[in-house]
Amino acid sequence: MRVVLMGPPGAGKGTQAKRLVERFGMAHLSSGDILRAERAAGTELGEKLKSYMDAGELVPDEIVVEIMAGAVAKQDPQKGLLLDGFPRTIIQAEALDEQLDRLGLPLEAVLIIEADESLLVERITGRRSCPSCGRVYHVKNIPPAKEDICDACGVKLIQREDDTETVVRQRLTAYRSQTEPVIEYYAAGGRKMIKLDGAEPLEEVAEQAAEALGLSG
Ligand code: AP5
Repeated sequence: MRVVLMGPPGAGKGTQAKRLVERFGMAHLSSGDILRAERAAGTELGEKLKSYMDAGELVPDEIVVEIMAGAVAKQDPQKGLLLDGFPRTIIQAEALDEQLDRLGLPLEAVLIIEADESLLVERITGRRSCPSCGRVYHVKNIPPAKEDICDACGVKLIQREDDTETVVRQRLTAYRSQTEPVIEYYAAGGRKMIKLDGAEPLEEVAEQAAEALGLSG
């Protein structure tokens, strides 16, 4: 199944993507993770990305479209694809449609996770993650057994540089103005649209997502 996962920062896209991928085995492409890996590699492009990402602004379309087209091309979309955080603008959505249509394997569903702004800010500012395995925690909602230490790796957890209240508010503004129109684009194109309440407990959101996508197991 080829699915786009959308929602504002903190709605639970990454959390749900990991669960879906663990259970159903489709390829998972997170644009945020891919851009952060480019930054971590310390390339010239990575330096350029930093200025946009740390300010909570979207990275320009021409950069993202090229990077994500390359990442999609490395997958076999026939085996299932979960795109998380991409596309985030109409230009990106059109580019993705063109690429998948050329393969004769169009998108099948759009999964949108929503939640109130106050909850999103609380979640983002409390998020911690493992730099080694990528596991995501929350200081109150999903704490590790030992404070600030990854349960799986025993490594010290980190906080993302763009997870401050000021930057998350800018990310929310970018989402409302540039990404919400993508939801209308897909709805107008007759895609299967699935809306989930991200304020629900995460296992419940995961069950609802699997059921709505017609996945089982
Ligand atoms: P990206 O990394 O994609 O960040 P985001 O969209 O802002 O989303 P987040 O990863 O912050 O949130 P999430 O929804 O995945 O929440 P999570 O599951 O972790 O993008 C970062 C930046 O990269 C952008 O600002 C932009 O600059 C750039 N970028 C990326 N893609 C781009 C694109 N396509 N075009 C242009 N620029 C792009 O959950 C959050 C917290 O809540 C966690 O602590 C989690 O444990 C907890 N939690 C989750 N669900 C629940 C639940 N149900 N109950 C309780 N707690 C929960």
